[in-house]
Amino acid sequence: MRIAMIGTGYVGLVSGTCLADFGHHVTCVDKDQAKIDGLLAGRMPIWEPGLESLVKANVERGRLEFTTDLAKALEGAEAVFIAVGTPSRRGDGHADLSYVFAAVEELAGLLKDPVVVVTKSTVPVGTGDKIAALLKEKGAPDGVSVASNPEFLREGAAIADFKHPDRILVGAEDDHARQVLAEIYRPLFLNRAPMLFTGRRTAELTKYAANAFLAMKISFINEMADLCEAVDADVQDLARGIGLDNRIGTKFLHAGAGYGGSCFPKDTLALLRTAEEAGIRQDLVSTVVEVNDRRKEAMAGRVRDALGGSLAGKQIAVLGLTFKPNTDDMRDAPSIPLIQGLLAGGASVAAFDPVGREQAEPLFPGIVFAKCAEEAADGADAVVIVTEWDEFRALDLHDIAGRMRGNMLVDLRNIYDKADAEEAGLSYRGIGRGRP
Ligand code: UDX
Repeated sequence: MRIAMIGTGYVGLVSGTCLADFGHHVTCVDKDQAKIDGLLAGRMPIWEPGLESLVKANVERGRLEFTTDLAKALEGAEAVFIAVGTPSRRGDGHADLSYVFAAVEELAGLLKDPVVVVTKSTVPVGTGDKIAALLKEKGAPDGVSVASNPEFLREGAAIADFKHPDRILVGAEDDHARQVLAEIYRPLFLNRAPMLFTGRRTAELTKYAANAFLAMKISFINEMADLCEAVDADVQDLARGIGLDNRIGTKFLHAGAGYGGSCFPKDTLALLRTAEEAGIRQDLVSTVVEVNDRRKEAMAGRVRDALGGSLAGKQIAVLGLTFKPNTDDMRDAPSIPLIQGLLAGGASVAAFDPVGREQAEPLFPGIVFAKCAEEAADGADAVVIVTEWDEFRALDLHDIAGRMRGNMLVDLRNIYDKADAEEAGLSYRGIGRGRP
């Protein structure tokens, strides 16, 4: 099947490449000439494990193409995916749909055949209806259908998530759209990935509900971590103790510095705006957002407390800047309010991130970027682990301790044990692991 993918951001590029890898012919379109030129030269616009080689393999086989010419991408296409960004709109937290509607308008003028237009971008409930109306108004041919097919890809694991999904969700209002999407995902059917067909509006809302629920699990365990510290209990054991109950599940119960990234913060806000417009209270979700915002703001205070109540004149090593490992994405990363708080308190910061430096540098003009974790630790009063990159999991703690001026290890991801840290001569503060 021939497929056009509009948008070569993280979702569009990963989805387009994986669909090509299934054997479909995919043309990825983007307005950004530099991005397309880069892709044509084999340069990835994002850092995602395994992506570069998968793109290369499919380009070589002639199944994956890149262009800025939408009309060319549409030639013979039976489905057109829209995978452009839907960032938070400044001021009100609503999803900004201007890129989506701009793509639809352009599309409407070019469509000749009754294709299926599929939203992959996360869009508020009812957007599919608006797209269908706009296509009609702008003269798209009869028989064009609009479907919703939200993505559930985690950055850093996006290819595996695409190829081994827990489920594929398709919201469609007609048989033609359902048939085309079933054909597109047939390779996954054979792997017994459940494919769920719902109404279009339900699929749109389900994506937000999934992200809000996961965000809720994280905020829940973070609150439990605070309670564990107050009453001298251990949140890691608590998480396992509740998670092994199948009704709860062990995943997304890692206490930490609060969630960040391209999805949870913006999607929870957009869900709240949708609910507000519908006149429906969403007390749980709004509390989740509040708890998370407060948590991220509180992390600098944790470091201050670990250092005896003042940051003035302290040298802090920050390990990990991206919002999570295996990505260079800095969007809403907990490291941002943390470092701002450290600097505001009078500390100096030396930071190291395995791949995020380029994205992080413009955000932190006042800090030093080290070449490795060890260099960041040189002369530090405290080492703070903010992102659990694999290479931080097995540091030589004796070496780290020997390089430091002080001896405080603040582990905001609970990747070390107190006993191991103490054995190396470090003082240890984790998250929710007994009374500090
Ligand atoms: C998320 C969803 O998982 C994915 O399905 C959706 O399509 C996009 O949003 P992503 O943002 O890439 O993916 O990362 P994810 O692994 O979900 O982590 C999100 C944030 O939650 C990170 O900041 C992470 O550190 C934090 N997190 C996650 C925790 O603090 N604790 C956990 O137990 C899990």
